[in-house]
Amino acid sequence: MIRIGLLGASAIAPRAVVEAARAVPGVEVVAVAARDPARAEAFARANGVPRVLPSYQALVEDDGVDLVYVGLPNALHVRWSVAARAAGKHVLCEKPLLCNASDAGALSEPGPLVAEAMHWRHHPLAARARALVAGGAIGALRSVEAAFCSPTRRDGDIRTQYALGGGALMDLGCYAISGVLSFAGPSVAAVTRARLVTGWPDVDVSADVRLSLGAVQGRVLCAMRGSIRRSLVARGDAGTLWVLGPWAPQRGHALVLRRGWRLTVERFPGEPTFVHQLRAVRAAIHGEAPVGTGVAEALAVARVIDDAYRAGGLPLRRST
Ligand SMILES: NC(=O)c1ccc[n+]([C@@H]2O[C@H](COP(=O)([O-])OP(=O)(O)OC[C@H]3O[C@@H](n4cnc5c(N)ncnc54)[C@H](OP(=O)(O)O)[C@@H]3O)[C@@H](O)[C@H]2O)c1
Repeated sequence: MIRIGLLGASAIAPRAVVEAARAVPGVEVVAVAARDPARAEAFARANGVPRVLPSYQALVEDDGVDLVYVGLPNALHVRWSVAARAAGKHVLCEKPLLCNASDAGALSEPGPLVAEAMHWRHHPLAARARALVAGGAIGALRSVEAAFCSPTRRDGDIRTQYALGGGALMDLGCYAISGVLSFAGPSVAAVTRARLVTGWPDVDVSADVRLSLGAVQGRVLCAMRGSIRRSLVARGDAGTLWVLGPWAPQRGHALVLRRGWRLTVERFPGEPTFVHQLRAVRAAIHGEAPVGTGVAEALAVARVIDDAYRAGGLPLRRST
């Protein structure tokens, strides 16, 4: 049994971990810690978590915990992932794992698993889309455009605060960048242009980033205000693949392939991304398969985010 401890009584933890764990044999949520123990108690009662630990440090050091889920603001991800690994615990850390590319070194030592919660990558929709593009279904890949625009952020939200690692690129762009890289490969991504709109000091409300990936052109759109957009589109010299609803297919999705005049549509009903993610984490801990969403993948995304902030005239995010 993999016993999970939750760092923070965060808004996302019930969906991303508590409910998902109920659907995955071999994992269970055993404890939670929050800055305010009363808040942790309330969370534990509401979510059926058996134990409350008095502090983040007590949770990472607890002998009854095998895996620490870091559901904290972005700027705290690296610090608490490092602390958990130092205590011998595996880590599932919320996205983005890194505040900037220089953070990766602290998590690159051999040791317990580090998985970033880039959950969409574990869904069969993502696997099928990658296989189609890699298998030549649209011919030679020419461009990839990914959008994640989700106008849900309010003043005071952790995403609006530079000191906590906020920003549209950090919160939503990281998905879109990982989408572009999942088709085009990470090694040669270079930012050619970045248009950032700021709405809070040093925090991007939206971003439009152009990438050069060898022979492939990339575009990343993300926004915390405006209309909703959730898509990933790959264009090749023989066709186009649209992934509609790629980041959370459980809310609705379609995979549309056009080759010549022929259109095919596929859907993948079933479990949420978070369930697939916990299965992948379990398999990685048991040595059955690499997790595929580890430090290397997070670093490739962080490099693009860093370059986009530099190109757009904003400071890099920093871990605290
Ligand atoms: N995978 C997904 O689909 C998904 C969705 C949403 C968010 N996320 C990621 O999950 C993480 C948490 O997001 P969320 O929406 O769940 O956030 P949230 O509920 O607003 O905050 C998360 C936790 O951060 C802790 N915290 C520690 N220091 C803090 C500080 N200085 N200011 C504010 N909070 C602080 C709080 O823990 P205490 O309980 O200890 O007070 C709070 O419970 C982020 O990295 C975000 O990118 C992922």
